[in-house]
Amino acid sequence: MKEIIDIRFLESCDFPAEQYKIQPFTMVIFGGAGDLSRRKLIPSIVHLFKDRELANLNFSIISFGMPEMGDSAYRDYMKEGYLLYDEDPDKNLWDEFARHIHYLPADFNDDSKYRQLKDKLEQVGLCSEFQKNLIYYMAVPPSAVPAIIGKLKEFELCKGDYRTKLIVEKPFGRDHDSAAHLDEILNQAFEEDQIYRIDHYLSKEPVQNILFFRFSNFIFEQIWNRNYISNVQITAAEDIGIEHRGAFYEQTGVVRDMVQNHMLQLLAFVAMEPPVSFKQDYIRDEKTRVFRSIFPFDNEFIDKYTVRGQYAGGETGGEKVPGYRGEKNVSPGSDQPTFFAGKFYVDNLRWAGVPFFLRTGKRLNKKLTEIAIQFKYLPIRLFGRICDLPEANILIFTIQPDEKISMRFAVKDPRFENRIQPVNMVFNYSEVFKTQPLPAYERLLVDCMKSDLRAFVRRDSVEEMWRVVDPIIARWEGVPPKDFPNYTAGSWGPDAARELIEKEGFHWITS
Ligand code: BG6
Repeated sequence: MKEIIDIRFLESCDFPAEQYKIQPFTMVIFGGAGDLSRRKLIPSIVHLFKDRELANLNFSIISFGMPEMGDSAYRDYMKEGYLLYDEDPDKNLWDEFARHIHYLPADFNDDSKYRQLKDKLEQVGLCSEFQKNLIYYMAVPPSAVPAIIGKLKEFELCKGDYRTKLIVEKPFGRDHDSAAHLDEILNQAFEEDQIYRIDHYLSKEPVQNILFFRFSNFIFEQIWNRNYISNVQITAAEDIGIEHRGAFYEQTGVVRDMVQNHMLQLLAFVAMEPPVSFKQDYIRDEKTRVFRSIFPFDNEFIDKYTVRGQYAGGETGGEKVPGYRGEKNVSPGSDQPTFFAGKFYVDNLRWAGVPFFLRTGKRLNKKLTEIAIQFKYLPIRLFGRICDLPEANILIFTIQPDEKISMRFAVKDPRFENRIQPVNMVFNYSEVFKTQPLPAYERLLVDCMKSDLRAFVRRDSVEEMWRVVDPIIARWEGVPPKDFPNYTAGSWGPDAARELIEKEGFHWITS
């Protein structure tokens, strides 16, 4: 008898195309002459202009920046940045692109500048339709954001006549209360669905794939829980140090910089329940629930199950590098951690009892971001006496740099009568798809232009993520470390991070 297959489609999987089409727009970049704009933002927009989403589209960019200069000097300055920072700059394209950008020198607190901005919006808007479609990009230090938002509200540049979106960069506050305060300010001027809080990890293709992988593969969907998974490991290792950001890092440290946002977002992708459908708020609802379910850290748990580290000088890529305390703009006695490892529990029916081990740090052995899902051992080891114990199955998502998914399983080694060997089955993005995914930054811009909020962070998530990490930061700040610096540049971090996982019967896994 023919099997009757009942496949159900959720109505909201089919996005209405017009909703996700880029409409002509004007983008106002606050801090448009700064480092972020020059290195990342403008080059990303040029890429989108080149044969992509912005080719043949009406759009304008108004940069609102501190230095005094005119349109032409600003264009030259940005061109220089583009030629310098882009891997494959297109000189000819630049002139065509430059027509779209304008500059307005600004003091963010000066009322007259906002009047000028209004005038400029009228001037450069190519038609009444899209001069009202506005994107505000906050490429300014977080401390400057509240004043700008206040002025935008005061000069009625947020709602009403204008259809506006606001892009905000991390950090969103430095703890739960300051984040909630900032959110309050943002929400006084903008509705929540006008606010695009960036976490660029959400736009990495292999991160977005986690949900598609989980919820479209029957075999994995069935076993994605505490009955089959023994532990989850999330590694975000960087070989670089803090680069030119000493002053920033001294105020931030690894937990605020990486754990509160990127690491917890990765955890949420692994742990979340299937959303009711693929609509943005349903996805964001499920992620917030994960953050709420994370077992709260108290001091005893923090002392036992978290590890902090700071790098000493050493060697990476054959080059001698200084320790953190020897970096520019860092205090020689700084206690700021550059490494984190910790054990988390997601306290719900799916995950109760399954440890999630997270580790991240600067100046580690290599650049590697991976999620390893380790399954349980079979209850009976049929080959136990005659073979070495095979490793339990492991599924690894390599987010970067070589995007891939690997499945490790055991096979009989043909060279021996009864020996078992773990092997890998690998899906490699570049081999299969032969195209490079859109870089994270460009994708974020496109998503915002299309009003697609799925890869942006909602207010409740931000605040819940701070709730998770605040106790760790408070404990670490309250009890100075005794052994800093405690790992060598180029290593895998302090020994305590290895011990943390080994005393639970596991070891750190990389592909
Ligand atoms: C940023 C952090 O958010 O992410 C940096 O502030 C870090 O310190 C960077 O280096 C890592 O991003 P990626 O995409 O290189 O892994």
